Amino acid sequence: MKNKDKSRTIVKISIHKHFQGLTLKEIEAIQDEYFKENNLDARDKAFVKNLTLTSIRNRGILENVIAKYLDRPLPKKLTEIKSILIMGVAQILFTRTEDYAAVNTTVNFFEGRLKKWRGLSNAILRKIIREENYKNKKYEPRLNVPNWLYKVWKKQYGEKNTEKIIGYIFKESTLDLKIKKDFDFWKKEIGGEEIVYNTLRLKKSGDPKKISGYKEGAWWVQNLAAQIPVELMGNIKNEKVLDLCAAPGGKTAQLLNEGAIVTALDISEKKINKLTSNISRLNLEKNLTAISKDFLKWNSEKKYNKILLDAPCSATGTVRKNPDVLWNKNEKDIERLVNTQKKLLDKAISKLNDKGILVYCNCSMQFEEGEKIIDFFIKKNRVKLLPIKPEELKLFPKEIFKSGFIRTLPYMYNEFGGLDGFFIARFIKA
Ligand SMILES: C[S@@+](CC[C@H](N)C(=O)[O-])C[C@H]1O[C@@H](n2cnc3c(N)ncnc32)[C@H](O)[C@@H]1O
Repeated sequence: MKNKDKSRTIVKISIHKHFQGLTLKEIEAIQDEYFKENNLDARDKAFVKNLTLTSIRNRGILENVIAKYLDRPLPKKLTEIKSILIMGVAQILFTRTEDYAAVNTTVNFFEGRLKKWRGLSNAILRKIIREENYKNKKYEPRLNVPNWLYKVWKKQYGEKNTEKIIGYIFKESTLDLKIKKDFDFWKKEIGGEEIVYNTLRLKKSGDPKKISGYKEGAWWVQNLAAQIPVELMGNIKNEKVLDLCAAPGGKTAQLLNEGAIVTALDISEKKINKLTSNISRLNLEKNLTAISKDFLKWNSEKKYNKILLDAPCSATGTVRKNPDVLWNKNEKDIERLVNTQKKLLDKAISKLNDKGILVYCNCSMQFEEGEKIIDFFIKKNRVKLLPIKPEELKLFPKEIFKSGFIRTLPYMYNEFGGLDGFFIARFIKA
């Protein structure tokens, strides 16, 4: 098989896995295995990654176009058929692949038990090329947001802001590098745009391992919005900090780099190993204790003055990098996550010393996982909100500050290319 065919096979498998509910991160891990097995070069790998991302990012538009040219819906169970068609149409609408190559290579995937779909697929793809007028068309990005989610955002943020969010989330994400030290030196080495907090912003998010300073441990990848929680913990030099739900460790690196003595805990052993290796690459392991344990079952008696809880969430705020989150989460998942977030927060509060500070954050844009959770805890009277004031984060746009907490959205800080969506609140033990 030629490498291009191998590449498309991996894309087809990836889209199929997406339909089966795997996250983009999980899919990327599978792709890495295939890359090794098939000995693919950097160009082929980039082709696979781009086509996979383009297909998932534009899933709503692609499904909509395909549906227009079908007389009756595809069989729900055979998601493989849809995966192949999505891959084909994505190439026609959104890449520079020649139309004939997109059609031929797609149709060739209909073999064996799928052979009977070959004729229909061929006809659909040719019809799209003939009738869709796609070269002159601007597809509505709104189609890429499932209806239920659109409705929730509209209720939370209003129609105008929801349209602004949608206008931002389907653009390629920037890559923010937090520089450990010697900022000016690394700025010259790496390039990119200097934004606040010793951070360089790169316009394209390629493979970080290829960026200068990776091996030297000169920086770590961390979106600017994700840096805010640690900035709000006050002076943490030589302070003991409990870092909950810590892996893969972006915020752990930040805490250690600020001089804190950190206990980092995460439920996943695999992810804690990743955290440890990330922190070792940065040479910051001296003051780190890493624990792999379910926090809800952690029996330590120790209490802390400073706790960070970066709770597991729907991650809708990171949709620019992870467009799959729009499709693989539903209202039930969010309910389940809220339940876990409440339990985690409840237990985190019990680990606080009197007057101790707890920063709660997550990268969701859903009020249930942010605003509504803090309301719930404040009403229970176990903690008080320690309001976050604009003076503490002078270089940020005023629009991120709500009533004492922070809500960042993808269109904010837009003169520099936007921010991930985050919710951040700071509590003091009541
Ligand atoms: C949003 S990620 C954390 C990101 C991390 N703080 C950083 O800055 O790189 C959430 C993490 O919570 C962990 N997690 C989920 N449930 C947990 C639990 N019950 N106890 C401890 N960790 C948990 C997940 O394994 C995941 O790594």
